[in-house]
Amino acid sequence: THPLKLGDIIPLDFSSSPSLPDSHAWTQPNDDGDEFSFSDPASSSSIPIIDLMDPNATKLIALACENWGAFHLKNHGIPLDVIQGVEEEVQRLFSLPSEQKMKALRSPTGATGYGIARIAPFFSKCMWHEGFTIIGSPSHDAKKIWPDDYARFCDRMENYEKQMRIIAERLTEMVMELLGISEEKRKWVGASEANGALQLNFNPSCPDPNRAMGLAPHTDTSIFTILQTPSTGLQIFKEGKGWIPVNPHPDALIVHTGDFLHIISNARFSCPVHRVMLNEKKRYSVAYFYSPPMHYMLSPCVSSDLNSVARFRDVTVEEYIGIKSQKFADSLSFIST
Ligand code: SIN
Ligand code: FE2
Repeated sequence: THPLKLGDIIPLDFSSSPSLPDSHAWTQPNDDGDEFSFSDPASSSSIPIIDLMDPNATKLIALACENWGAFHLKNHGIPLDVIQGVEEEVQRLFSLPSEQKMKALRSPTGATGYGIARIAPFFSKCMWHEGFTIIGSPSHDAKKIWPDDYARFCDRMENYEKQMRIIAERLTEMVMELLGISEEKRKWVGASEANGALQLNFNPSCPDPNRAMGLAPHTDTSIFTILQTPSTGLQIFKEGKGWIPVNPHPDALIVHTGDFLHIISNARFSCPVHRVMLNEKKRYSVAYFYSPPMHYMLSPCVSSDLNSVARFRDVTVEEYIGIKSQKFADSLSFIST
């Protein structure tokens, strides 16, 4: 089991340490690191780029969700200065001394604040990663870090969350309508009861990046995740191809299909396993997770075709999150019919 529990100390203050601590070494120095290898970037395609203003955007998004469970989204309408403002705040936050960030440490039962990756307990090694989670206003946590200077951070994050929500609502409406999901079952989309969360991620520069892990393989617990990053390192696993690099595209956001959409679409849309690998440089990313309310019943949409059967049993968002927190790696098979 993992040496750290959620909310425990983040042992990343290794700036003085010239070598990778064993707690963070995912392979041995002489390992060929099979698990770590990925397909030749030159020989493989990567996720498509979709223009949100394209009249065929819905069809293209559906196709991308079927084939990849991910796509680049351009013409999303978020002004560049909003994106840059968020990036600036993320850098400002994570470059603070540990003692200062620790003031906003996520409590063992808490959802927000500074802490290790939520998936950390499922792995025996630590990730070279620290994070900061925001749900609603970040002011409670930000005040602990910057008692007199939290306003700019909060304004920029809250504004960004609003803009992300608008895009997430739009994408969700598009695919749910395409799936033929009833208006009754779509009512939560655009309502304030829909859940949005921002996850700020930081991977400090690493003394031995080829043996460390930025973020371990996982699928997202969301309908859609919208990711902003200026950095390389994200990879998604594609059956038959291996780990495919997903590098940032100028002016585009990266969108992932999450578990909830996979379930609702009756597995028509995939929810790709992805991970973050490191290089010598620091790395930042900002993920926005959009999800239905906790009480929402996730019911696979079976088409009017009588031969089509539900691949999953009905499950509420809350129940699924509970299952995933127990059965991280096979939570989906746990609800398979
Ligand atoms: C994530 O998987 O939530 C973050 C991916 C990234 O940092 O690129
Ligand atoms: Fe993710």
